[in-house]
Amino acid sequence: MSVKILMVCLGNICRSPLAEGILASKLPRDKFYIDSAGTGNYHIGKQPDKRSIDTALKNGLNISNQKARQFTSKDFDAFDYIFVMDNSNYDNVIELAKNEEQKAKVDLILNQLFPGENVDVPDPYYGLQNGFDMVYQMLDETCDILAKKLIEKHS
Ligand code: 4NP
Repeated sequence: MSVKILMVCLGNICRSPLAEGILASKLPRDKFYIDSAGTGNYHIGKQPDKRSIDTALKNGLNISNQKARQFTSKDFDAFDYIFVMDNSNYDNVIELAKNEEQKAKVDLILNQLFPGENVDVPDPYYGLQNGFDMVYQMLDETCDILAKKLIEKHS
């Protein structure tokens, strides 16, 4: 049975699709299943933002086949780990948790890189292209650490 990891942001079109693609590229497919979702419902069914698709492509990843969906309370049962991009996502996800076991599955993705500091991955949606490059670099660094930990723990 594979280990299931969910990446969560607000729209599921900018940050979490990048996080999904980046982490998936660092883990063996037969052992790990990675998905992403948004706490909001604005972009359900849409492809990732063109700027995220282009940023991923520049770095050798194709995320264009992803489709946005909304986070639901069922995701607490379906996934082993839930990584949120910012503190607002954290609050929105935790609000839907039924118990402490579900809450314990949730953490900020940058806590891998900056343990216990609760740093946000900034929302690049209303910004410029360099915001997407910065988000990519942050996610790549934090997913390097996360992938190593996951492989160690689940092999
Ligand atoms: P994301 O970025 O949460 O990284 O996907 C956003 C995309 C769209 C919106 C907000 C954030 N929006 O308000 O439409």
